[in-house]
Amino acid sequence: MKKSVEEHAARFDEKASEYDDSKHEEYLACANLVIEHAAPGPDDVVLDLGTGTGAIALALAPDAARVVGRDISDGMMSEARAKADDEGLENVEFAYGTFREPEYDGDVDVVTSNFAMHHLSDEEKREAIDVVAALGPRRFVLGDVMFFGEPDPDEPFYSPEVDDPATVGVLADALTDAGFSLTAVERVHEQVGVLVAERAPDATESGDDE
Ligand SMILES: C[S@@+](CC[C@H](N)C(=O)[O-])C[C@H]1O[C@@H](n2cnc3c(N)ncnc32)[C@H](O)[C@@H]1O
Repeated sequence: MKKSVEEHAARFDEKASEYDDSKHEEYLACANLVIEHAAPGPDDVVLDLGTGTGAIALALAPDAARVVGRDISDGMMSEARAKADDEGLENVEFAYGTFREPEYDGDVDVVTSNFAMHHLSDEEKREAIDVVAALGPRRFVLGDVMFFGEPDPDEPFYSPEVDDPATVGVLADALTDAGFSLTAVERVHEQVGVLVAERAPDATESGDDE
């Protein structure tokens, strides 16, 4: 992580009121793919990490039993709560939690995260993916800035001073090491993609048998 959690939180608090007006085409394509692949059912609990102003959480709430959003920025989550109120969504909640300590230990069926994990170092991403796996979802949909080819620091999808995107290979390895199977890789741009990870059948079954 190139900035501390507190520094990232302060940065997002500052931009929260304008965040929803600053979205680019690749972000929107990525968010739409995360929503499409998450596909929760009416009994499912969704955990959205780095939920921000709730783009993913609010879109999934009408289809899910419950959506839990976690973020480090109160400013971003205030925007999310206001939108949930405006939309009359009562099954979505937002509270403080980090990727590595989401402060949630209830049941979860689907975990999502969009355009947020690239703030962590690769080692921290691996820890965060292990934390997600330990929560036991059947699916984890990760949309983010990620490198499909050779990283080009001159490209506009990340700011080297605050962001630390991983290669697709690093993320894929972390997901499979944590017990997921990669079931889809969506390339939005050479630096933006969505990975869909499902619990390997034996990982789920061994939990049931014991
Ligand atoms: C670019 S915004 C994306 C928000 C939302 N997921 C979306 O698709 O619009 C990144 C979010 O990640 C949050 N964030 C950054 N570092 C985090 C961490 N370590 N744990 C949880 N959230 C974090 C920020 O506060 C911010 O709200």
